[in-house]
Amino acid sequence: VDGWVEVCDAGIIEKEDVIRFDHDSRTFAIYRTLNDEYHATDGVCTHGNTHLADGLVKGKLIECPKHNGRFDITDGSPQRAPVCVALKTYKVKVENGKIYFNLD
Ligand code: FES
Repeated sequence: VDGWVEVCDAGIIEKEDVIRFDHDSRTFAIYRTLNDEYHATDGVCTHGNTHLADGLVKGKLIECPKHNGRFDITDGSPQRAPVCVALKTYKVKVENGKIYFNLD
């Protein structure tokens, strides 16, 4: 409804971690920060065909496991070479302990 997609229980993602979430033949990455903020981005690095969920969350950054490029998970902006194309980001909400993100 209204583009919101249910992901999982919020507690399933560890603090400062990321999970892969597949939906409608697309792959997303869903993040939880140390401060329990949740974010969602496209799941594949814009530099190569690598799953960001296999990378490391460091504060507000995700580090790609392949060439260690970094993105800001809050706005998708590239933060360290070799990545130079932004990641798409999605709105996230937590309701009744479940995470939702919006595809619109
Ligand atoms: Fe992600 Fe190269 S594939 S930095």
